[in-house]
Amino acid sequence: MAAASHDPTTTAAWSALGAHGDAQTPDLRGWFAADPGRAERLTLDVADLHVDLSKNLVTDETLHLLRQLAEQTGVQDRLRAMFAGEHINVTEDRAVLHTALRRPAGLDPLTVDGQDVDADVQAELAKVYAFAEKVRSGEWTGVTGQRIETVVNIGIGGSDLGPVMAYEALQAYVHDGLTCRFVSNIDPTDLDETTKDLDPATTLFIVASKTFGTLETLTNARLARQWLWDGLAVEDADEARRSAVAKHFVAVSTALEKVADFGIDTENAFGFWDWVGGRYSVDSAIGTSLAVAIGPERFAEFLAGFHAVDEHARTTPLERNVPLLMGLLNVWYVNFLGAQTHAVLPYSQYLHRFPAYLQQLTMESNGKSVRWDGEAVTTDTGEVFWGEPGTNGQHAFYQLIHQGTRLIPADFLAFATPQHPLSDGGTDVHALFMANFFAQTKALAFGKTAEEVRAEGTAEDVVQARVFSGNRPTTSIMAPSLTPSVLGQLIALYEHITFTQGAVWGIDSFDQWGVELGKQLALQIAPALTGDAAALESQDSSTKALIDWYLQHRS
Ligand code: F6P
Repeated sequence: MAAASHDPTTTAAWSALGAHGDAQTPDLRGWFAADPGRAERLTLDVADLHVDLSKNLVTDETLHLLRQLAEQTGVQDRLRAMFAGEHINVTEDRAVLHTALRRPAGLDPLTVDGQDVDADVQAELAKVYAFAEKVRSGEWTGVTGQRIETVVNIGIGGSDLGPVMAYEALQAYVHDGLTCRFVSNIDPTDLDETTKDLDPATTLFIVASKTFGTLETLTNARLARQWLWDGLAVEDADEARRSAVAKHFVAVSTALEKVADFGIDTENAFGFWDWVGGRYSVDSAIGTSLAVAIGPERFAEFLAGFHAVDEHARTTPLERNVPLLMGLLNVWYVNFLGAQTHAVLPYSQYLHRFPAYLQQLTMESNGKSVRWDGEAVTTDTGEVFWGEPGTNGQHAFYQLIHQGTRLIPADFLAFATPQHPLSDGGTDVHALFMANFFAQTKALAFGKTAEEVRAEGTAEDVVQARVFSGNRPTTSIMAPSLTPSVLGQLIALYEHITFTQGAVWGIDSFDQWGVELGKQLALQIAPALTGDAAALESQDSSTKALIDWYLQHRS
């Protein structure tokens, strides 16, 4: 049984943290000066990730109290329950077993709810790998006999963000002659722009949808199917149409009967299970486009990266458990220091979709205001995650992080060895890039005092504008290079950070009821846009007026 829910604010650790926060004046300059061992003590390794927590607004006492909070809210018990397959997704009565997707073959069998999880995972993975090999080798051809050059993944949310983020991140590993594209939005622009220069004869669609009931994905899949039939001039006969679909469409879903209803042969469908949440599914068959792009061997390395961090999270004591500590730091900032957002700033152009990916992971998971026992929370929960790659962000929003009135904890990510070691007239450009990475966290932590500004000869009337307060918290996460394994490690790191926060808050991080109402209303409103007068009249006055305006202006 999963632990009963709790109100974290009633714990002794919560009260102690409150008092500690009130009494503390953050002083990173002073703390570093007084404690030469701080950086070393607060830098931890997890698999290939080298994580420096020392520029956070914490003392040893803060960390001690945060660990007590984790103990008093049962974080590690809940983690054990998750790994064991208990139904910790209470509102959907489901196990939460994304960690099983990356368990290597040959471990002690994991049986959950009567299912041999490992056997099923390995069997499905084998199917995905066999398919990926066929596409990569050219054995899988389109209906005209030509090899596939472009794979288009149609999916949304977790059925899109993970695959597209990972595909972009691992560009350096993508098979020559194969390109992936991604269609997610029901804005018809997306499908049209994505397919407009493609040759249907060499295009394969992967329709990725856990439920196979998502309006956006099914609409786009039908549009893509029509595009294929039109482009290949497939005659209007069932058999011809079916064989075109069989060669140009595969599916990934937990609902294989709906896949068949759509007209995709379930032989060409890859399954997964209801214990994989959409936002935790890039390492399931939802990652098929990625497996095709980088190949089974690299995909296996990707999974091994996740598993290494899972093992760290599962077995490392709290004192050195990086994802759990990072989750606790986030709780510290949100609940005791008033942070409302958290920036993730990858110094890697390849990770340009990583913040967007994390937005679903963190905000769909922890954007909750009731606990898993149905009681209202009594404190703030999930913060807003956002970010852009450095150095672009430096020239846009870093001003606010450095000198604004908001506290914005930020994670800085970087890699020692670049994929593109270019030199600009003898200057190593990656070194220049990294100099920015190091400079930013230093500036944020230690700032610049009025005396230092004056010492540069600055006119007195602009001194204050040039002061940097410092004490702006950051975590630096570095790895040797952005490999498939390291990407898996980074994703798993953030999964367990998200888990930790939700476990402290006593909320169900694995449901997403908050996305449902808008979906229902869209279906109710749709007839009002296409002539149903009663549907239009039944709207509230604001919505009705907006629809009227739309109908008048739609050309
Ligand atoms: O609407 C939210 C959501 O349910 C996400 O949780 C999920 O990742 C996405 O929609 C897509 O769902 P599906 O994979 O079932 O199409």
